[in-house]
Amino acid sequence: MNLKEAGIGEGISEVIVTTKSASGEPNAAPIGIIAVTNEDENENNYFVRLYKGSKTLSNARETNKLAANVTNDAVLFVKAAFEPLTETQFSLFNGFPVLKEANSWILFDCTFSEKTRETFVFRLTALAVKTNRKEVKAINRGRNAVIEAAILATRNAITEDERDRAEREKLMALYARIVEKCGGSREKEALKILQEKT
Ligand SMILES: Cc1cc2nc3c(=O)[nH]c(=O)nc-3n(C[C@H](O)[C@H](O)[C@H](O)COP(=O)(O)O)c2cc1C
Repeated sequence: MNLKEAGIGEGISEVIVTTKSASGEPNAAPIGIIAVTNEDENENNYFVRLYKGSKTLSNARETNKLAANVTNDAVLFVKAAFEPLTETQFSLFNGFPVLKEANSWILFDCTFSEKTRETFVFRLTALAVKTNRKEVKAINRGRNAVIEAAILATRNAITEDERDRAEREKLMALYARIVEKCGGSREKEALKILQEKT
């Protein structure tokens, strides 16, 4: 299966991971899909590192499945990080929730790989891939800044951040200035939601 075509390449790809609980309730959260290049076979192995306490982790442990939804929508990232998405934002593939708005999605089987004090790591094996549209987009610093700001805002809740409050506020102010200068309407809306949530 060609995951690069679906937008998941080398390094860490920030996506919205959808999962479902054993009772069938869907969930969505921004998560990084980690690609590790296999030197011999010249192809990638895929992993995910999930912090303890998240719904995504408990769902992945219950069902051994997750879907990586590729999107550039800053608002979707921020909403998925801070609030439950509505039922209507999901569609079902063989009963598994994926995002209607995703440019592409990959359904993965996830197998436990290792555990640390704060995280569980799973190895991912692609089961199905769907590309809804191929989006060609130039780098936008505003969109990138929203993602950095959202990571900063969620980091402190899930793990001890080595930065103090003053340093985090300074970084947030910098990201906000970049969004104001370089972002479009979706990035500005995402920043507003982020600021309300934090
Ligand atoms: C861009 C981005 C990437 C993130 N990557 C991860 C990740 O790789 N692993 C993780 O456990 N949390 C990650 N987070 C934090 C989770 O999205 C956040 O804790 C979320 O609230 C978990 O929601 P849930 O409880 O519905 O699963 C990331 C957040 C953002 C904004």
